[in-house]
Amino acid sequence: MEIQSVGICGAGTMGSGIAQVCATAGFHATLYDVNDDILEKAKSSIQKNLRTLFEKNKINEKEKDEALERIHFVTDQKQCKADLIIEAIVENIEAKTSLFNHLSNVNGSKTIYATNTSSLSVSEIAGRFSYPQRMAGMHFFNPAPIMKLVEVVTAEKTSADVVQTIVAFANQLGKIPVICKDSPGFIVNRVARPFYIESLRLIEEGHAGFATIDHLLEAAGFRMGPFKLMDLIGNDVNYAVSLSVYEQLNKPERLKPSEIQKEKVENGELGKKTGRGYYQY
Ligand code: NAI
Repeated sequence: MEIQSVGICGAGTMGSGIAQVCATAGFHATLYDVNDDILEKAKSSIQKNLRTLFEKNKINEKEKDEALERIHFVTDQKQCKADLIIEAIVENIEAKTSLFNHLSNVNGSKTIYATNTSSLSVSEIAGRFSYPQRMAGMHFFNPAPIMKLVEVVTAEKTSADVVQTIVAFANQLGKIPVICKDSPGFIVNRVARPFYIESLRLIEEGHAGFATIDHLLEAAGFRMGPFKLMDLIGNDVNYAVSLSVYEQLNKPERLKPSEIQKEKVENGELGKKTGRGYYQY
């Protein structure tokens, strides 16, 4: 099967970046969100990113204009019809399951359904879905237009065709797809968990402040310190992923999420997307 059109659900941090990547690579993209303001914000952010690519001579003016024209911004779920659906809504299994089941009525059994979940079990989402063999994980990294890696997560019933099609599609996007099994946090997020959790422990135990920890880890060679990275990811998303991995691995003490993460979410200090997290933006 060859993908020609993509429906992206959720126009937040990830969905907007994924839509931009698809449109720049020549695919028709429908970007769907329940929230009109978020869609508007996604549109201006994509416009701004495309302008930057044009100014840096990475794309020409025609490519810039055509990429934007290829994206259709919608709040009506029924318009979310495509060969491939990429879901990037809130990290919550009930919300994701409900969305996929509605979309299966719109799209049917020929469409491929991919979830960009960072940590939820793809097999569990697929198990609650009418076409489990048509579902896989397609885990992009943030910022989606820049980061090359895509974890292609195979669930218990994902068909070989679906995996092959997603890998070919990711290659067409200019990404580096890596097939991995469905396990808590897959590969990257599982390995990355202690990076965040141990940094938070240092603060809780009074050993260092967040800016110092970021500064030291960047000086040690990490591209971004953990607190800057959590602000980029979104503290709500990072907390949800921490909780999900912790619970799926039977609550090991070393991965217990921090109270600081919880407080950040409760205070609405979600990071870059809300203008305040550990840092002010
Ligand atoms: P976000 O909070 O920036 O955006 C989520 C969007 O989904 C919001 O615009 C919201 O209005 C929309 N939404 C919520 N429920 C909806 C529904 N039922 N139907 C349609 N739209 C709905 O979240 P973000 O960061 O883009 O994360 C989305 C997904 O991608 C999550 O599963 C997350 O774990 C995953 N992810 C996040 C990464 C990150 O660094 N933020 C990296 C890789 C994956």
